Amino acid sequence: MAQTLSGAQAQSRSSLAPLAPLAPLTEAARRYGVLPAPNLAWTPEVERATAHLYEKVKAIVPPVEWPFHAPYVKAINELKKERNAVILAHNYQTPEIYNCVADVVGDSLQLAKLAAQADADVIVQGGVHFMAETSKLLSPEKTVLIPDSRAGCSLAESITCADVRALRAKYPGVPVVAYVNTSAEVKAEVDICCTSSNALKVVESLGADRVIFLPDQYLAKNVQAQTKVKIIAWAGACEVHERFTAEEMLRYRADDPSITIIAHPECPPEVVEVSDFAGSTAAMIDYVKTKQPKRVLLVTECSMADNVAAETKGVTEFVRPCNLCPHMKRITLPKILDSLLTMREEVVIDPALAQRARRSVQRMIDLG
Ligand code: 13P
Ligand code: SF4
Repeated sequence: MAQTLSGAQAQSRSSLAPLAPLAPLTEAARRYGVLPAPNLAWTPEVERATAHLYEKVKAIVPPVEWPFHAPYVKAINELKKERNAVILAHNYQTPEIYNCVADVVGDSLQLAKLAAQADADVIVQGGVHFMAETSKLLSPEKTVLIPDSRAGCSLAESITCADVRALRAKYPGVPVVAYVNTSAEVKAEVDICCTSSNALKVVESLGADRVIFLPDQYLAKNVQAQTKVKIIAWAGACEVHERFTAEEMLRYRADDPSITIIAHPECPPEVVEVSDFAGSTAAMIDYVKTKQPKRVLLVTECSMADNVAAETKGVTEFVRPCNLCPHMKRITLPKILDSLLTMREEVVIDPALAQRARRSVQRMIDLG
């Protein structure tokens, strides 16, 4: 059992180190205590203890890189037990996080749902802030940590709760659907949430002839193409997926007519139109695993191809039009370790707001 510093000890440490003072202790750090940093040297013992994990990623993580990751992987896996924590990793997390320290991997909603079922006191979110909030909404009794609270999302940031109230005033009586890529404040103002895999079903479940759909204009258009319900869209966009173009896809297809193109529905509709399949990140992975196409163009965030490649072990060749999500990439092994040591940053949602936001998420889950 590693030594636990009391709040006072940790603070007196910070007063001895004026050049690098520790940030004030969070509530979670007071409850759980701050742990001292472990030894992060690359030793034969670390090599032995992590060899089975390197096996999983050796096709994508070069041997020269592993000595940098392995000490963190070992330390994080030990600390998880000590904190009774689970690590959730979205499909866009880097391979060493996704394959070597995560307990639960998946798309944004799968993560929150599975975390709620986990027998753990602490959730560390490998993903962006709205995902950590959704985890907290579905696991209010657990401590939810995000290793870098600046991990945002261009969609979640495109709309505020005041915007939703203004939309309601402009379109009285029209139900409001929010993509899960929104803040808890926005979720608290809407009627129901949706994900990229159930958006059409959610829209049609409302029995209305018009629906306000926010904040992703492209997901809205992709749903509109499949329904008679009139969709009133907000003008948000994912900064990663909006950059893909149909011309780019058609060039890949011209080079190799047998290539399978799989796109996330946050892409513009012209991109989805020239694709063979569109679905949530989990649905895209399922498609690759079940259909086992020979060559795939994964039109989404770049790390996902690495993660699926590691899991499918060379069955499918991936062509990567590489757009990285800068927010997802803020989460790293050193920050996950720091999060478990210092219990930062804790995701806290006002209970009254959480109750309203949870209702919208739960209504979607109840649809099945
Ligand atoms: P998924 O729910 O499909 O994982 O999508 C989340 C996301 O942020 C995609 O950009
Ligand atoms: Fe948000 Fe796009 Fe990043 Fe997903 S990929 S978290 S939608 S910015």
